[in-house]
Amino acid sequence: MGTSVAVGTQAETFNYGVVRQFTIATIIWGIVGMAVGVLIAAQLIWPELNFNTPWFSYGRLRPLHTNAVIFAFGGSALFATSYYVVQRTSQVRLFSDKLAAFTFWGWQAVIVGAVISLPLGYTSSKEYAELEWPLDILIALVWISYAVVFFGTIVKRRVKHIYVANWFFGAYILTVSVLHIFNNLEMPFSWFKSYSAYAGVQDAMVQWWYGHNAVGFFLTTSFLGMMYYFVPKQAERPIYSYRLSIVHFWALAFTYMWAGPHHLLYTSLPDWTQTLGMALSLILLAPSWGGMINGIMTLSGAWYKLRTDPILKFLIVALSFYGMSTFEGSMMAIRTVNALSHYTDWTVGHVHSGALGWVAMITFGSLYYLIPRLYGRTSMAYPKLIELHFWIATLGVVLYIAAMWIAGVMQGLMWRATAPDGTLTYSFVEGVKATYPFYVIRFIGGVMYLSGICLMAFNMWATIRGQVKVNPAVPLETADPVHGHQPAGAAA
Ligand code: HEM
Ligand code: HEM
Repeated sequence: MGTSVAVGTQAETFNYGVVRQFTIATIIWGIVGMAVGVLIAAQLIWPELNFNTPWFSYGRLRPLHTNAVIFAFGGSALFATSYYVVQRTSQVRLFSDKLAAFTFWGWQAVIVGAVISLPLGYTSSKEYAELEWPLDILIALVWISYAVVFFGTIVKRRVKHIYVANWFFGAYILTVSVLHIFNNLEMPFSWFKSYSAYAGVQDAMVQWWYGHNAVGFFLTTSFLGMMYYFVPKQAERPIYSYRLSIVHFWALAFTYMWAGPHHLLYTSLPDWTQTLGMALSLILLAPSWGGMINGIMTLSGAWYKLRTDPILKFLIVALSFYGMSTFEGSMMAIRTVNALSHYTDWTVGHVHSGALGWVAMITFGSLYYLIPRLYGRTSMAYPKLIELHFWIATLGVVLYIAAMWIAGVMQGLMWRATAPDGTLTYSFVEGVKATYPFYVIRFIGGVMYLSGICLMAFNMWATIRGQVKVNPAVPLETADPVHGHQPAGAAA
């Protein structure tokens, strides 16, 4: 068991400052990114919400939404949790406080750059890699520093064993560096414009090799790292199967790399490449479910905790969405299914079942665990609000994705319907009109989801301001997730 230590001792041992900064940034950017999501969802119902300005036009705000939620919200959450987990499980302070501070301020500078440049219309027009070359260089510098801080901490660890969460975080940091650098090889033309080094179908393939692995490593492998620490901690159970975690880690890392072509089915990409992408996407289901099963089964023997613990609810529901969205993705990668789903709102439904259901829910659960510990409090200021957040977020996701699934299948069927003489049964505008009610439902789901994170922000603020310090008799951390004890001689 961990020894009882006062907060002061912990603060000296570990660098919690940067973890706190990234935690607060996560919530702020989460609100900004989701608010822009709600705005563009509203624009699809009331187009006049672009206020007749180019800066608020849908085409410019959409990449602002994706960048803000993935890189600002998701990215800050990953920095916060990976810095926390690597310190706790290695039992040492971060490799370099200065470099860690640079990663915080550098990352915030990238985000502010995105918030300014995207509405102004500067874009490299590569999805999820829209930022122009000066910001790309800054991202590369921040990311390399991140790798130095993270792996440097692993190198100087005081525990021989490298806990599996760090493997997942490590794979994500390494892969994202490679993806970012190779996809953004470009020729600058002016300060705000560059041209890709690739052309034609090679450009498309490199882009979706990047795009899919951004999903695979930025939105999945990394969040599995989060899962492998916070689920056992909150459940107070060791991980279900350590062996499974290693097997599915390697299988996941290997398989994701090949699945990119499922974004380019029925294009001029060579046929064999598309088939390979499809086959590997189906295989990908196995390691994905390996992770989901490992997380959920960690609760075996302690299911009753789900009834009363809203943090566990967040974590376990996140894993369920992870399971669902990966099953769905593998199905959508089948050519004949993709023929129906591609270009429709089904894809958007799939994206948000992964993004809202998995990425954001696992983040909320993990941060609810983390915030009181970072600020030396016994718990969040308003535990009941966590429960409320959980329910409105869950209902919000369900409304969002169910609406998009129905809309997507409907659109696909309408677009392919033909009369006996071969002419199209429906015009495109009829499809748009039929989608309208579903956009309204999605908007309502989005507003609910956004209200949930606002509640969390309030709860966080109240917790940080709160007067109740942790009782030094209660250890801030109890068990190491794998072994059930802290390594001998550890400071916490
Ligand atoms: C309140 C919550 C949210 C709302 C209302 C919302 C709304 C939207 C809307 C309206 C779109 C554009 C869909 C289209 O062009 O047809 C979109 C796209 C997207 N959103 Fe969200 N979003 C939310 C949260 C998130 C989160 C948390 C993430 C990621 C962690 C995310 C990731 C994405 C991605 C990746 C796309 C692009 C999808 C594609 O290209 O198929 N969103 N979102
Ligand atoms: C086994 C795992 C998965 C597979 C095989 C898979 C497969 C797919 C397929 C086939 C598409 C549609 C491509 C198209 O028609 O254009 C897609 C789109 C997408 N998926 Fe997944 N998916 C998986 C998991 C996930 C997860 C967990 C997330 C989010 C956390 C996610 C995020 C996305 C995004 C953002 C897109 C839209 C890309 C775009 O067109 O902009 N996927 N996925």
